Amino acid sequence: MTQFLTLHGTAVSLILELPEGEAPLWRYWGRRLPDGVALQPIRASRPTPSFSLDFDQPLSLFPGLGVGWFGESALLAHRAGRDWTFQATSSAVEQDGQTATMWLTDDVAKIAVAITLNLDSQSDVLTVSTTLTNLGDAILDVQWLAAGVVPLPGDACEVHSFGGRHNDEFVPITDQLTRSTWRRENRRGLTSHACFPGAIVAAAGATYGAQLAWSGNHRQSIEWIDDGRFQWQMGEWLAPGEIWLAAGESITTPEMLATCGIDANAVAQNFHSAIRQRITWPGGKMKPRPVHLNTWEGFYFNHDEAALMELADAGAAVGIERFVLDDGWFAGRNDDTSSLGDWWTDTAKYPNGLRPLAEHVTGLGMEFGLWVEPEMVNPDSALYRAHPDWALATPGRPGITARNQLVLDMAKPEVSDYLFDKIAALLKDLPITYLKWDHNRDLTTAGAQPRYHKQVEAAYALMARLRAAFPHVEIEACAGGGGRIDAGIIRHTHRFWTSDNIDAVSRVSIQRGFLQFMPPEVMGSHIGASPAHATGRSQSMDFRGAVALPGHFGVELDVRKLDERDRTKLAEWIATYKAHRDRMHHGKVWQGDGDDGLLWQAHGDADGILLFVYRVAPQSHRHAPLVRLSMLDPKRRYGIDGIEYGGAWLVQHGLSLPPLKAETSLMIEVTAL
Ligand code: DGJ
Repeated sequence: MTQFLTLHGTAVSLILELPEGEAPLWRYWGRRLPDGVALQPIRASRPTPSFSLDFDQPLSLFPGLGVGWFGESALLAHRAGRDWTFQATSSAVEQDGQTATMWLTDDVAKIAVAITLNLDSQSDVLTVSTTLTNLGDAILDVQWLAAGVVPLPGDACEVHSFGGRHNDEFVPITDQLTRSTWRRENRRGLTSHACFPGAIVAAAGATYGAQLAWSGNHRQSIEWIDDGRFQWQMGEWLAPGEIWLAAGESITTPEMLATCGIDANAVAQNFHSAIRQRITWPGGKMKPRPVHLNTWEGFYFNHDEAALMELADAGAAVGIERFVLDDGWFAGRNDDTSSLGDWWTDTAKYPNGLRPLAEHVTGLGMEFGLWVEPEMVNPDSALYRAHPDWALATPGRPGITARNQLVLDMAKPEVSDYLFDKIAALLKDLPITYLKWDHNRDLTTAGAQPRYHKQVEAAYALMARLRAAFPHVEIEACAGGGGRIDAGIIRHTHRFWTSDNIDAVSRVSIQRGFLQFMPPEVMGSHIGASPAHATGRSQSMDFRGAVALPGHFGVELDVRKLDERDRTKLAEWIATYKAHRDRMHHGKVWQGDGDDGLLWQAHGDADGILLFVYRVAPQSHRHAPLVRLSMLDPKRRYGIDGIEYGGAWLVQHGLSLPPLKAETSLMIEVTAL
């Protein structure tokens, strides 16, 4: 009798059919089904259509090429032109609570595959990864190996993904799903500003989301299949020749995180819960996210020790809790043309090293953080002059610089040892509790045999090694702002620098995209200067404060130069952040668009929310639109600014707002009575 494997989460279920000796067949992934659904084998319920194979091949967990599956294959591999087909000849399943492992062996192609699925009932996120082992004698050249394959219903109609560039991350892209294949690929060698590794799919009555936990190249496709459903594949994009498995060797894909819910907010909340579980905090628990003061836009490369001490004084006076010394502190680094790789203090700027500044900062009760960009080297550096062969290169091709820098070949043990030693010396010597870890370029000439994959693994390994040696240190993932935001690097880090664009109008949409996949407590969000350096637009301190507030809040301007009024306002925003950060960083997030371009987001739960309303463009209606607060409990009563409302009124009718001018905001506390 055919067996089925069912995993139920809280609001999500999946069902796989387990025919003897075949890959498991996808029967269902979607909103929760009742326990004990009675199922017939799929082939019993669908006759063979005309001009079709006599052996029906429905979508499986690992569809293979060349033996009757005509859709996209989960694997593209060969041994010098042979063994290019895949079909399991035997299969086995092991289930341990919410985790199932499927073992598939193909005795003909001599390949073994193990697919692990975990449906976490706290987050409702399904995590899938795949391990492939070469059981043959010759090298197996792997061109594509899906991390996961999941089904989407036939009424899936729209896919929302995110593109962008430096200073303009998370640009929303909406495509219709048709019978053509939808595909997005990234070949920039790191997660990239241009192509976030995930998407959201709208279907009738449910919304689906997936993201790849990987900080390198990636590829995803959604393909219409013969039975009217779609298959969604996601994995690492591999360059030709990148993965050659010798006899007995294996490769494991990154994890694909997939979930579904009633709408995009439910999907975001599930992702937030899953990402929160992936972070390892120093001391085992997230402490309240400290208010940052980052020196970059206030000082750039012009480090002056006395001025920075004054900045620290001014920061401490307004309530800053962590002072991060950005680029420009190390030997000879006066602009972006030189010195990456020379990770020791510039004694021209800091005659007695960084200790006096670091101790000045900690003496004021703040933490001290330091910027590094370990994976990079400038040709004009002592490191490059000593070891030109440490830069990643492709023989016969010119080394292409970006921001005047080359990429180090991180997988060389001598390179990672050098970087570990240099960073460890700083961490040992100075009271540093925070590293801002930057990566300011895409990869081009990535080795004689492509080393994109190895590069990501080596970066993760270096972070893990440093964290094991210095467990009290937090790391911020930055890549020219939001070029390395993903669920892979978050296992090693604690914050993302969301964008180098701190203009509050730009940030409203960048942060909305970010919050679809990542929780607010890891979203670096700063109050920058006005006019904003990235755009030249000017915004009030209040608008800048309200936009930065819900994330991991910080300040990135020269506090000394603020006039009295703005300095007082800044101190007020910092105090407001401290008062509300617990609710914003532990609760759920809902985002919505009111009519007429009004954008809102709410943080909290049914006991109460903090509502942010942002107007980025002028109002065109005569009256401000209503905001329906569907997350509230219709049966409870709520207080807003001393007025009592019925929950049902706020849920069904909505909250009336005063008219707002462009580039202004409201912050409203809604408290259950
Ligand atoms: C790019 C980052 O995103 C900025 O915040 C800053 O750290 C610069 N690099 C420094 O070079």
